[in-house]
Amino acid sequence: NVAGSSGLVIFGVTGDLSRKKLLPAVYDLANRGLLPPDFALVGFGRRDWKDADFAQVAYEAVKSHARTPLRDEVWQRLADCCRFVQGDFDDDDAFVRLRETVEELGRKQGTGGDFAFYLSVPPRAFPQVLRQLKAHALADPPPGAWRRAVIEKPFGHDLAGAQDLGRIVHEVFPPNEVFRIDHYLGKETVQNILALRFANTMFEPLWNRSYVDHVQITMAEDIGIGGRAGYYDGIGAARDVIQNHLLQLLALTAMEEPDSFHPDALSAEKLKVLSAVTLPADLGRHTVRGQYTHAWQRGQEVPGYLEEDGIDPASRTDTYAAVKLEINNRRWAGVPFYLRTGKRLGRRVTEIAVIFKPAPFLPFESSATSELGQNALVIRVQPDEGVTVRFGSKVPGNSLEVRDVAMDFDYRDSFTEASPEAYERLILDVLLGDANLFPRHQEVEQSWRILDPVERFWDSHGKPAQYPAGSWGPAEADEMLARDGRSWRRP
Ligand code: BG6
Repeated sequence: NVAGSSGLVIFGVTGDLSRKKLLPAVYDLANRGLLPPDFALVGFGRRDWKDADFAQVAYEAVKSHARTPLRDEVWQRLADCCRFVQGDFDDDDAFVRLRETVEELGRKQGTGGDFAFYLSVPPRAFPQVLRQLKAHALADPPPGAWRRAVIEKPFGHDLAGAQDLGRIVHEVFPPNEVFRIDHYLGKETVQNILALRFANTMFEPLWNRSYVDHVQITMAEDIGIGGRAGYYDGIGAARDVIQNHLLQLLALTAMEEPDSFHPDALSAEKLKVLSAVTLPADLGRHTVRGQYTHAWQRGQEVPGYLEEDGIDPASRTDTYAAVKLEINNRRWAGVPFYLRTGKRLGRRVTEIAVIFKPAPFLPFESSATSELGQNALVIRVQPDEGVTVRFGSKVPGNSLEVRDVAMDFDYRDSFTEASPEAYERLILDVLLGDANLFPRHQEVEQSWRILDPVERFWDSHGKPAQYPAGSWGPAEADEMLARDGRSWRRP
């Protein structure tokens, strides 16, 4: 699947995401032979750069962050098609220049200009950029060509904001030309959830309320907010991660089998299960938010969230969030899904743990099973990609003792091919027009419908709990599960 003659315009090309992910991903795609030789890369930004300055910045980004080796001939070909358009988002002349650039590149390619516009900009700038694209007819494809919008999260700040944004986007681009990035869907291990569930026979019969006790979805990071105070404060962990990445993981874990992997079929199933998600009535008992405090993390002293540069010392923004969700359908009724995420936790790990019910009866002395836990299937999303099954096994010897053991599938052992970076896969899919790995607007709305009451509850209920940097979150989160007779996994 190689992209045809096309181009990518990146708004916000001087930002972190562009430097660390987008530009390196474009190069990696070129290096793997997945981009056409005349692929056009256009940066739009405020800096006073010429095309060559942009190409130089892109080169540095590629040198530091690309996955594949730097090859001169590949880079040179890409650099030759790099253009930079200088301007502000409210600068009409800049958009006139952008249009001329796109037309010129399109003529050279002979396609009339198949272009994707990637909005790697703060959410408050979305409406303006979209309106400019419309006003300057950049969103209208010439006959036979396509124009697409790529939008980075957050898609709004709440349900109402997401609906407004949805309206604005769809006034400019038709729904099937809008690609919302949730980069978790670009990860191999996330795509593998569907293969694991639906390409095999042995898991699906157990994948329901008769056998599953509960599900834990964890996205833990050991880093703090770095230089992202401006983005993060006022958004927080739940909006940053639960609303998108974790609810998408929940949807893939809990949905019914789609009748095909066509984007319509897949999205319909995700939407159905998200619509069935409800919050427990007592949010005080079943949700927890926290903020990290100053501590030593792996031998290094790190500041608390309120002491980070650019953070309001009275901020109530959550850097940790945990929620219990229920799914009201025949498969899952009564099975809690616990979601948690946080910055400055013990280590970086994302996993989905399906914890099975204990055996209804154990024909052993109780001392023989003291080290037997509940069976579990753990999808290790990152960094140690794979799947683990935990089950009880007899300890060798002449007494009958049963203990937990693990059976592991590890990507590194089973596959020699390295997984492409999530952004590589997603950018290629945008150029190919393949919408499977992109959440649709209705899924985004459902996710906000789930999260909004939690945010409102937190807004009106005091301050976040505290947890020392490097720990596994606030004690309140442990208490939340303990009240249900359960505990969080320590990955
Ligand atoms: C982003 C969040 O969506 O995902 C960041 O905005 C977070 O706060 C990042 O650090 C984590 O992505 P990954 O792929 O490193 O798990």
